[in-house]
Amino acid sequence: MTAETKSYPPAAPRWAEFPRPIVCLAPMDGYTDSPFRRVVRRVNPGVVLFSEFTSAEGFLRSGKVKQRLAFQADEQPYFVQLFGSDPAAFAEAARELEQQGVTGIDINMGCPAKKIVASQHGSGLMKDVAAAARIVERVAGACALQVSVKTRLGWSDASGLVPFARALTSAGASLVTIHGRTYNQAFHGQADWEPIYRLKEALPVPVIGNGDVACHADGLARLGNLDGFMIGRAAIGNPWVFDPAWREENPPSWAAKARLMEAHFQWMLEDRPLRRAVPEFRKHLAGYLKGFPMARRVKTELLTLTDPDDIFRRMEGLAQLDGPAERLAG
Ligand SMILES: Cc1cc2nc3c(=O)[nH]c(=O)nc-3n(C[C@H](O)[C@H](O)[C@H](O)COP(=O)(O)O)c2cc1C
Repeated sequence: MTAETKSYPPAAPRWAEFPRPIVCLAPMDGYTDSPFRRVVRRVNPGVVLFSEFTSAEGFLRSGKVKQRLAFQADEQPYFVQLFGSDPAAFAEAARELEQQGVTGIDINMGCPAKKIVASQHGSGLMKDVAAAARIVERVAGACALQVSVKTRLGWSDASGLVPFARALTSAGASLVTIHGRTYNQAFHGQADWEPIYRLKEALPVPVIGNGDVACHADGLARLGNLDGFMIGRAAIGNPWVFDPAWREENPPSWAAKARLMEAHFQWMLEDRPLRRAVPEFRKHLAGYLKGFPMARRVKTELLTLTDPDDIFRRMEGLAQLDGPAERLAG
């Protein structure tokens, strides 16, 4: 199928149409599923959402994997992140995702996990520019969707970042996101944004900075010449960091927090079977509870409940810790 014959998506926005700065939720395996993406959207409707990374080949093979990427219309703009090394599998998966109405395809070239890298996926692609460019070219040629790449500064330093990113944009990448750490650093040390600012000067496409952004205001402070920023870990258990008004010393009320937690849990119950929803919500709950002034015993107890009604009741109790819910519960 050629791009000309496509009828869907009707109007996937192009990057030029996105208001600046482009504020993104980072793709996070095990976290950025549909319920969490909607939680983030509730805090800030302008946030651009990315799925968890997903194997292109796994997507083609498995109905379960397809189901995992399902999204609600109000999650758009929604980008699906794929990983793998077979350009044909990427292309086929991208075509299918285009029919489902996703906004774009993001290609993972930054995951440092050993088994991913060993199969020439993720960060492994930083070592083979030609293979990385081939994947981008095949995806860009297979569908009308915008193709972006999320990668790191480099393998052991940032000296190859500009030529690597230039090869990707020549192959058809219309945006790159850079996590300001190398493969060797994994998640250690501090993210270095200086090479990202320099990259922006050398690239014809939008560049998003990522790494250690604590909140929306911190993203703005780091923005420099970039087109946007992406927040990951800081949002786990604290999606309010996407509110431009959020400050550590002035968090939302307990009631507002509890209301959003309740919505999150409700969406998880609607999204998957009970036997999965409860344990999978627990890791979010553990993050949320860090902010609440409760004894460790009470928190531990809450994290062992299995009956959804009990969990809702306890969250309702949290809402009573202070006055009425405020706007962030919205
Ligand atoms: C639990 C977890 C899962 C992650 N999964 C992905 C992923 O699926 N795809 C990806 O590109 N990066 C993934 N990352 C990396 C983040 O997207 C991001 O680049 C990194 O955490 C740095 O940003 P931060 O400091 O804002 O968290 C993951 C990070 C964490 C902590």
